[in-house]
Order: sequence, then structure tokens, then C-alpha cells
Amino acid sequence: MSFENYTDEMLKQYIIEAKKRLGSRLAIPAHHYINKDLVEIADFAGDSYKLAVDVSRSSAEFIVFCGVRFMADGAKVLAGENQHILHPEPAAGCPMAEMIDEETAEKAVEMIGKVCDREIIPLVYMNSYADSKSFCGRKGGAVCTSSNAEKIVRYYLDRGQSLFFFPDYHLGHNVAQQIGIDDSLVVKVGRNLTLEDGKNLKEGKMFLWDGFCPIHQEFDDEDVLLMRKNYPDAKIIVHPESRKSVVNLSDMSGSTQQIYNRIAESAEGSVWVIGTETTFVKRIADTFTDKKVLPLKTSPCKNMVKLTLRNTAESVKSVEDYIAGTGSLKNEVFVDKNLVENAKLALQKMIDIVEAP
Ligand code: 13P
Ligand code: SF4
Repeated sequence: MSFENYTDEMLKQYIIEAKKRLGSRLAIPAHHYINKDLVEIADFAGDSYKLAVDVSRSSAEFIVFCGVRFMADGAKVLAGENQHILHPEPAAGCPMAEMIDEETAEKAVEMIGKVCDREIIPLVYMNSYADSKSFCGRKGGAVCTSSNAEKIVRYYLDRGQSLFFFPDYHLGHNVAQQIGIDDSLVVKVGRNLTLEDGKNLKEGKMFLWDGFCPIHQEFDDEDVLLMRKNYPDAKIIVHPESRKSVVNLSDMSGSTQQIYNRIAESAEGSVWVIGTETTFVKRIADTFTDKKVLPLKTSPCKNMVKLTLRNTAESVKSVEDYIAGTGSLKNEVFVDKNLVENAKLALQKMIDIVEAP
């Protein structure tokens, strides 16, 4: 069976029926930035943290992951040996995750260790590949996501350790400010392995890699000021991958799940301006029609849109063929065995810190 002449409605119907046939053997997680049709048929949708936890608790034998590659990679790390992770579109990557690798992270930590008197622990944002996560696991560090970065940073600082935070400079910078770390102790680490001038390197607390998300870096102060002028009654909420000045001019910031929850709980008739990925903002606007929801600026993630009903249906079909013994799994995700153990340690460390009472 080929899906060549299938309309979106037919593809959706196929996936829904295949899900019934496969029952608990199949799970489809979808990130909040994925298109509405896929979110509607997904078993669970959420931010990066929620998806990691949901996947780690799922016993489904086949997980068709609708998100970008680092998310499918992370799911594979957390999965049991009998679980197969499929990523319907392997070309859906994330430029931020590609802004560093294990070897460079290791060089950065070595370099910082030579100038800083404090112990340096690497802390990696979820938006990274398994090699970076494995490096953190190997060095006693952890993974964090935008919903828990503050808690995890505090965990290490409270133990007298300093952090090499990578790859997202802006998230690290925003967290450092939330915690109240003096700016002289927050140091940018250039991608050519240089340290920011004029900082107290000896006592530095957060060393931040100069990575960024091209989608959120699009937002600037003028965008916030313009929306404030045009919609004086609106509350402005942005994702913390946005620049610190943008976060400061806004009313609040949060992960995709926190943004979703905030709008869901808000009063009827309230007005919201949201600074994050466009597909998600549109879905929130369509879901909560009793509120007025506007994008801070149009900024779609070119990678998340690569996940479609068609490539997801093809992945699901390959699961059915595989079970019937008539075909192989399409775009199954594999992670280098040498990386899995330490990457899992770093992901589990995050979950343990977050779920600790
Ligand atoms: P969340 O963890 O908030 O879902 O963020 C993931 C992401 O890629 C944002 O750009
Ligand atoms: Fe990566 Fe930015 Fe897309 Fe998130 S929105 S997946 S950080 S490019």
C-alpha cells in the first residue's frame, strides 16, 4: 500500500485505524511545535521535559516520535532494549543542537578549568545530541530543559560547583538572571573557544556556550515594544530561548507546556501575545477561542514542519509491515552504544532532580 494519492484526511484516518489495530504496542508522542493534525492523533503531546518523562514511562514496543531529531535521539537513550524508536523525518534536525559536540564541550571544560578556581560541571540543554548528553553523564553533570533549567542550575551551584552550560546562551543567561547571579560571574564562551573579556573568571559561576535558536533569536526588543503599544491590555509571554532583554520586557517566560498551561488557565476575554514558534501559537489561538492570542512575530521552526501526516503514516505502516513480517522499520533511530549509558545517566539525573520532593 502506498499513500501516494491520499489526502490529509485519509492519512489521518489510516493512522487512527492503525493505532487501534496496534493498541498498546504503538505510541506516538508529539512536541508542541508539531502541526495540529499530528498533535490531535498523538498519544501524548508536550514540552521536551514532559515528552522525555512520558517516553521513559511508556512500555510501547514501537514509538513513532513526532519531533526533531534530538528528541527522537533522547527517546532512544531512555528506551528499553525491546523498544524501537522511529523518527518519521530524519532530516528534521535542530540548528542549535548542531552548534556543539562532545569533543568541543570537553575542550571548553578543560579551558575553563584552567582559569576558574571552582569545580566545573557540564550541564547540557535537552536540545543536543547523545554525544553531548553522554559527556555530561560521564562528568557528573545532567541534562536540563527550559521548564527545569533554574532548578537544576541551583542544584549544582548550591553544592559550590560552577557550570559549563551549553548549547543555548540565552536560556543560560535568563536562568543566571532569575537566580540573581552577578553579571561579572556569567561568562560567554565563544564558539572559537574564547572567554568573554572583563569577567571574573576565577570565581565564574556560569560559563555559557554561544549557541542559539534561530527561531527565538528573531525576537527583539522592538517587537515587544510594538505589541505593547498596539495591545496595551495584553500579557506578553515568551520562551526563555529568547534574548534576555526580550524576556525582561515581557511579562513572563516559560517552556512550551508552561505557556500552554498559562493560556489555558487564563480568564475568558484575556489578551495574550506569545513569543515562540508560530505553528504552536496558531494552535493555541485555535484551541482557546475565548481568548485573544497573537504571535509576537511570525517565526516558524523549519524543522518541526518537516513532520507530516504522510511521513508519520509511512512510519506507522512500516511498523505494521514489520509485525506482519513483510517489511522493515522505516527510519528507526539508533544511538551509538558507547554513548547510551552516560547519556541515560545525565537524563535520569535531570528527572531525579526535578521529581525530588
Ligand atoms: P520546550 O522544552 O519548551 O518544549 O522547548 C523545546 C524547543 O525546542 C524550543 O525551541
Ligand atoms: Fe531547534 Fe529552535 Fe526549532 Fe526548537 S524551535 S527545534 S531550538 S530550531
